[in-house]
Amino acid sequence: MPSNRLKNKKNNRSVSTRARLTGSGGTISKGTTYEWAARLAQLIQSRRVRVGIIGLGYVGLPLAVELAKAGLHVTGIDIDAEKVKAINAGRSYIQDVPSGEVARLVREGRLTATENFAALAELDAVSICVPTPLRKTKDPDVSMIMSAMKEVAQHLQAGMRIVLESTTYPGTTEEMVRPEVERQGLSVGREVFLAFSPERVDPGNPTYHTKNTPKIIGGCTPACTQLAVALYTLAVDRVIPVSSSQTAEMVKLLENTFRAINIGLANEVAIMCDRLGVNVWEVIDAAATKPFGFMAFYPGPGLGGHCIPIDPLYLSWKLKTLDYNARFIQLASEINTQMPHYVVDKIATALNDRRQSINGARILIVGVSYKRDVEDLRESPALDIIRLLRQRGATVTYADPYNPELRIESPHGETVLRSVALPEGLARQDCAVIVTNHHAFDYQQIVDRSSLVLDTRNATRDITRGHEKVIKL
Ligand SMILES: NC(=O)c1ccc[n+]([C@@H]2O[C@H](COP(=O)([O-])OP(=O)(O)OC[C@H]3O[C@@H](n4cnc5c(N)ncnc54)[C@H](O)[C@@H]3O)[C@@H](O)[C@H]2O)c1
Repeated sequence: MPSNRLKNKKNNRSVSTRARLTGSGGTISKGTTYEWAARLAQLIQSRRVRVGIIGLGYVGLPLAVELAKAGLHVTGIDIDAEKVKAINAGRSYIQDVPSGEVARLVREGRLTATENFAALAELDAVSICVPTPLRKTKDPDVSMIMSAMKEVAQHLQAGMRIVLESTTYPGTTEEMVRPEVERQGLSVGREVFLAFSPERVDPGNPTYHTKNTPKIIGGCTPACTQLAVALYTLAVDRVIPVSSSQTAEMVKLLENTFRAINIGLANEVAIMCDRLGVNVWEVIDAAATKPFGFMAFYPGPGLGGHCIPIDPLYLSWKLKTLDYNARFIQLASEINTQMPHYVVDKIATALNDRRQSINGARILIVGVSYKRDVEDLRESPALDIIRLLRQRGATVTYADPYNPELRIESPHGETVLRSVALPEGLARQDCAVIVTNHHAFDYQQIVDRSSLVLDTRNATRDITRGHEKVIKL
């Protein structure tokens, strides 16, 4: 429930909500609007603004660290006690964030973590970076945004800036988050400054990080945009304001839908090339020599990660509510989700050509993360491939230096597999399947020690011997 008196803890001043909302003549005065925006702008400019990051995962932790490196005091809030403990002990659990950096910021008092949402009462700015998965029905699940937002609402103060970073469908900030603020009797754009800013972090990317990846910001009002821009400008090299929160939400979905559709096209081109007896990798590399009008996308064993397989479905779901069928998204999703089946069929055909069956075959999966050089397993196609191979009677092992252990669900319960070492793990295998092309693998050695290799990533492009044993996607 809205408290009638909101306490501004920074300068120990109490302000009556009602007085602020009604002003002297019963309407919100311009002076009041200016007062809260100006106060926040002042805190940002002087770097005394106290920032909270809700959700300290792949997105939230790098953002928290970047803001703390910019000289701000940052409080991370997470429901995961292990993560909170790790941060306060100066330990990073995200590959791209060095523990040394976390330890230094914690030591200097710039970064702290807590499970207690009461910390929000001390903050001037909050960024929400919680997961946005799909339900089993493939509909968006924004329950974590809403649960984080309910906590924020309980501790909301006039003069606060809130930015939603979680990827979501256009309209979430206006339709779901804004009402939570207004239910507290506070006015968006006058007393609370609300914006959406999509996170574009690319885990494992050695060139682009939170600081040097341009940041899009769209506020519910111009003041909301300006204040969010002012804050992020302290920590990010280039900030790009757009006209509304819906625009910012749509920018993120365009970026990821663009990738999902183009990967879907590359996958279908791979299937077509297979029928034609043409090497798809050679086709794409040759097409990519065109200096304009073509951008190379590559086929693979299926989509993975928390973004590309999921985000376009947030967009198509929203469009369905507006009686529009997003056909490109649907088609790409169909092709991409079939790729693990296509890979398993290719394995079966290759074994069959050698008078072997998949039932009883020993198959080694090389790499299980959803992409190269990261440990992230979320939505990894390797998990589907392993499940499908086991369903068809294969004995499956895997090698992945980033994932010493792998949990595979099946109707009979969960199985825990352990990564085998290479090259020993290649011995007595009927087929090695390269699913994730980590740099750590020696591909020539993999081919040398195998009788059959299915390469779904063109990882063996530079091998000099044993081509006859390699089948490519
Ligand atoms: N991982 C990426 O590469 C990436 C890139 C761009 C955008 N995104 C988007 O960013 C958002 C976050 O993704 P992520 O990869 O960082 O997820 P993550 O699972 O790595 O981290 C989310 C964190 O939020 C915490 N959390 C969940 N519910 C909470 C709650 N109610 N209150 C406080 N903490 C809570 C979890 O414990 C976890 O630590 C998603 O919407 C995702 O689509 C992710």
